[in-house]
Amino acid sequence: MRVLVVGAGGLLGGNVTSVALNRNETVVTAYHSEDPGFDRPSHQIDITSSTAVDDLVTEIDPDAIVNCAAMTDVDGCETDPEQAYAVNADGAEHVARAADSVDAALVHTSTDYVLDGEETEPYSEDAEPAPKQVYGESKLAGERRVQELHPDPLIARLSFVYGRSLPDGSVSGFPAWVLEKAGEGDEIPLFTDQRVSPSYAKATAKTLLNLLEADQKGTFNVASRSCVTPYEFGELIVEEAGFENATLTESSMNDIDRDAERPRYTCLNTAAVEEALDRPQSTLAEDLADLL
Ligand SMILES: NC(=O)c1ccc[n+]([C@@H]2O[C@H](COP(=O)([O-])OP(=O)(O)OC[C@H]3O[C@@H](n4cnc5c(N)ncnc54)[C@H](OP(=O)(O)O)[C@@H]3O)[C@@H](O)[C@H]2O)c1
Repeated sequence: MRVLVVGAGGLLGGNVTSVALNRNETVVTAYHSEDPGFDRPSHQIDITSSTAVDDLVTEIDPDAIVNCAAMTDVDGCETDPEQAYAVNADGAEHVARAADSVDAALVHTSTDYVLDGEETEPYSEDAEPAPKQVYGESKLAGERRVQELHPDPLIARLSFVYGRSLPDGSVSGFPAWVLEKAGEGDEIPLFTDQRVSPSYAKATAKTLLNLLEADQKGTFNVASRSCVTPYEFGELIVEEAGFENATLTESSMNDIDRDAERPRYTCLNTAAVEEALDRPQSTLAEDLADLL
């Protein structure tokens, strides 16, 4: 299968590229500002340009496109909604339209931030989206455009993505921050009033490609089976990394002033993806053991 990975310079895109290469797929990468450096054909692209997307997709003529490109800076989206919509909604539309024009399967990545965070039980895919900030609104608009413009897309909702940036292998996201603070002996303030189901980039990449290979369509939550606070997540990280004397302190989302509001509870129910692939999603502890 010839797979075009859009957003290959990002955390998830690099992992999707790496997993697809390990499966001997023919992979072409498309990056925005920096070539990730896989030993494969690579193309610079700005998905806000429909012409650029059309030209690239026509040239590559892929069997499948995995779109991992997004404006993921949640506060940045709040202060620059125009760019947020240009990338997360218009860009998603351009990729979906181009995929359809060459009859390519489409995996589009979305977020738990399309949800309001008011629930207390893990959200299933049919929960009514009600984003609370521009990032979630623009990603929800992207989901809807993808559904309109591609006949049979697969939309994966992820939560709190972390892992190793590839191909360089550095730890990225929340664990990188916790490990840096622990290494410097600093106090590590962590929220106890937010709950998420962290998506490990490598496990997520495998699941996305498994869904693609299994010809699954529709919307799936793709996350770990665990529902944790950042404090609990931090405890597992320092334990797994062997920092016995790390100082974790309890903090609240209300303690910091940020441009965008965050949902308090976005744990994801993973029953649908588990049923589709006939296997359980990994737990956070299993993912961290693999990461560290
Ligand atoms: N990060 C999270 O915690 C999280 C949580 C839930 C869902 N998600 C979703 O998961 C997917 C992957 O996110 P990630 O964690 O891998 O984020 P990431 O590391 O920020 O990667 C996003 C990539 O998109 C690229 N991009 C931004 N604007 C672009 C444009 N105009 N044209 C082409 N590419 C562009 C970025 O390139 P530059 O950096 O070069 O601009 C970056 O390489 C996204 O759909 C995101 O919404 C992420």
